[in-house]
Amino acid sequence: MRLDRFLCELNMGSRSQVRKLVRQGLVTVNGIPAASPEQKIDELSDEIRFRGEKLQYRKFVYYMMNKPQGVVSASRDNAQRTVVSLLGEDAREDIFPAGRLDKDVTGLLLLTNDGELAHRLLSPKMHVDKTYRAVLAHKLSAEDIRRLETGVDIGEERLTLPARVTVLESADADPENAVLLTLHEGKFHQVKRMLQAVDNQVVQLRRIAFGGLRLDPRLAPGAYRALTPEELEILRRSGAERRLPQEDRKSEKNV
Ligand code: URA
Repeated sequence: MRLDRFLCELNMGSRSQVRKLVRQGLVTVNGIPAASPEQKIDELSDEIRFRGEKLQYRKFVYYMMNKPQGVVSASRDNAQRTVVSLLGEDAREDIFPAGRLDKDVTGLLLLTNDGELAHRLLSPKMHVDKTYRAVLAHKLSAEDIRRLETGVDIGEERLTLPARVTVLESADADPENAVLLTLHEGKFHQVKRMLQAVDNQVVQLRRIAFGGLRLDPRLAPGAYRALTPEELEILRRSGAERRLPQEDRKSEKNV
C-alpha cells in the first residue's frame, strides 16, 4: 500500500495534508524518514511512526450507529446528509452502511469496510433477523397479528416470510400503539408495506436489533461507537444459510 493512502485510512488528514506531513519529515518507516508520500509500505509488518508515535493499522472497522431521522443510509450523496458523514474523522473512504434504513427511520445501523461480512449479513439466503419497534396508526387485531405472523402480500412474487409480532403494553398517559416486529428478510420498505397490507400505517419506526446485535441504549441519535470483539463475534455467527419452508410456497397470495 502507498504511504499516503495508509495515512489517509488512519484519518491523519486529506490526501494533500498527509503528503505535506511526509514531506515535512514527520513520518518514519522502520526508523527512517519516509522518502515520499508514494513510498510503498507493508501495512502489516513495517513500523510507521508519526512524530515518533507508532501508528496501528486496522484493516477492518465496525461501528454501531443509532441512525437519526433525516439522514440517508449511504456513503456519499450530493444533496443530503449521509450516515457516513456522521462518522466525522472516523469516516474512512471505504466505509459504507451494511444495509439501509429509510430516511425517516431511526436505530441500529452497522457501518463497516468489511465487504465480505456485510455481503453475508445482507444475503437473502442468510435470513439474518432484524427487530423493529414500530408505532402504528391503529391497534393490531388478533387477525392482523395472525396474518403478519403467517405472511402477507406486499406485492412481491411471494408472501412475506412469517414475522414475530409482540404488542407492547402502553402506559395510560402514553397510549401509543407500539409493537415489536422481527423479520427474517429485508425487502425494500418491508415493515411499512407489511403494515399497509393489514390496513394499518407505521407512524414511527426504529430498528433495535440486527442479527443478534442490540442497539446500545446509551447511544443518542446520531451517535456511534466501535463494536466490541464480543459483538463482532455475535454478528459473525448471525444468520445461517437455510431455506425456510415458507419460501417454497409458490403463490399463496389469494388464500
Ligand atoms: N422497513 C421499512 O419500512 N423501512 C426501513 O427502513 C426498514 C424496514
